Parts: sequence; C-alpha cells; structure tokens
Amino acid sequence: MIQIKNLSKSYGPRPDAPHALDDVSLDIADGDIVGIIGMSGAGKSTLVRCLNLLERPTSGQILVDGQDVIGLTGAELRRYRRRVAMIFQNFGLLAQKTVLANVCFPFLAATGRVTAENRARALALLDLVGLADRADSYPSQLSGGQQQRVAIARALACDPEYILCDEATSALDPASTNTVLKLLRQINRETGVTVIVITHSMGVVEKICRNVVVLEHGRVVERGSVADVFADPQSHAAKVLLERVDWDA
Ligand SMILES: Nc1ncnc2c1ncn2[C@@H]1O[C@H](COP(=O)(O)OP(=O)(O)OP(=O)(O)O)[C@@H](O)[C@H]1O
Ligand SMILES: [Mg+2]
Repeated sequence: MIQIKNLSKSYGPRPDAPHALDDVSLDIADGDIVGIIGMSGAGKSTLVRCLNLLERPTSGQILVDGQDVIGLTGAELRRYRRRVAMIFQNFGLLAQKTVLANVCFPFLAATGRVTAENRARALALLDLVGLADRADSYPSQLSGGQQQRVAIARALACDPEYILCDEATSALDPASTNTVLKLLRQINRETGVTVIVITHSMGVVEKICRNVVVLEHGRVVERGSVADVFADPQSHAAKVLLERVDWDA
C-alpha cells in the first residue's frame, strides 16, 4: 500500500514559496481505484509527480509497502518507477514508432533490447485493449481513445503495481471516455493493480472509483467512499465539483 505522510511541496528555491501541496496525508490501499479530485491548481498533478518521483517533495514521506521511496536513487529509483506506471492526458506515444513498438518500448528502455517473448507479451496486451489488429499502425492513424488504449497497454508492459492516470480521459469524447474507464476497471479487477485516477470530473469518479480524495489549495479537504461523498459532500470544493452550489449566487 501507499502511505503519504505530511507531504508538502513548494516550487522554487524560496522557503516561503506557496505550497502546491500542504501537509497531505492519505493512504491508498492495494487493489483500490481511488479518485483524486480538485479544481485547476489544487495540486493534483504535483501529487502524482511526487508519487513517481518526477518531482521531489519539500517535506514528508511516501511509504510504499512500508519503505520510504523519496530518497531512492539510481537502480533502486528505476526499479520503483517500473512499479508505478503513468498515463497522461495527451497519451504520450512516440509518433515515429508503430503501435507495437510503442508497447514494446518499456522493454527496450529497461534492457536495451526487445525479445520475441517481449513482442508476444506486447501483442497480448494489445489484444487485451482490443487493438491487436492495429499493431502496425502509427499513433497518428488512431483516434484519441485508441491512442489512450495503446498507452494503457504500454503502461501494463512493466507489470506495474500502480497505475497513475492524470486526466487520462479529459481529451476524449464521452463514448471513448467510457471505453477507457471500463478498460481500467477491468484491468483492476483482473490483475488487482491499484489505479489512481486524477481528474476534475466527478462523472469519472462516479463511474469507476471506490474512494475519493478531494484536494483544494494543496490540502486534503475531504475523503471517503464515493457513495458517501456523493450522497453528502462536506467540503466546499466537493460541492462545487458536484455542482451542488448555486453558480449564479
Ligand atoms: N513547475 C512548476 N513551477 C512552479 N509552480 C508550479 C509548477 N507546477 C505547478 N505549479 C503550481 O502548483 C500549484 C498546483 O499545480 P498542479 O499542476 O499540481 O495543479 P492541478 O490540480 O494538477 O491543476 P489542473 O487541474 O489545472 O491540472 C499551482 O498553483 C501551480 O501554479
Ligand atoms: Mg494537473
């Protein structure tokens, strides 16, 4: 499990720089699908970038199965990053490479080569996301939803324990959004991978998350089961995101 303890992050060298994350503590249980929701600037992307150590927190701890990962370097850091896969809003595929080569890329990055076994695994993952017949296409020949499914296949190539999705469906139409969300839910059920969904859409949270954490100005202002938070939101941020406030007031 992931335990985030008193995590703070401010950008820039000045000690009094504003906090993008301010004393955030939360636990993410193995196998959960948890939504981290908040309005623009709330600190959601900062939190995921701290989780995969693309960004160094200013203070606090991130314990993964009890081990503090913030100090990891070198081979240990690379090993940790393989446990935590990322999916982004803009898919992040390599335009010059075929779909199959994109899914094989993590193998290439990890070992410097792609074996026949790796290729077979990549094809099986493309089959899982429903795109086995597009292995030789290039990303530009696919729709946004299809590209995101390739990105999911690529994320799974490392057999991650955690999948972090930062606004993974924000660029997609409602039908493609549903396909991608169903795929993530299916993968969660079948493999037990923990899915962390960053979004400003309560609709996305309602569809696939079991638990939700609401961020506002870098702080956790509410958390709980999706059922409870939707039934009776307590924080102003949750009420606004659920459109339970009179916007014209
Ligand atoms: N590289 C950076 N340098 C300086 N400030 C940053 C940097 N990245 C983010 N910030 C600031 O940190 C705060 C949190 O930003 P963050 O990107 O984490 O928000 P977010 O919740 O992901 O927003 P959005 O929904 O718009 O993606 C904001 O005030 C932002 O301006
Ligand atoms: Mg963001």
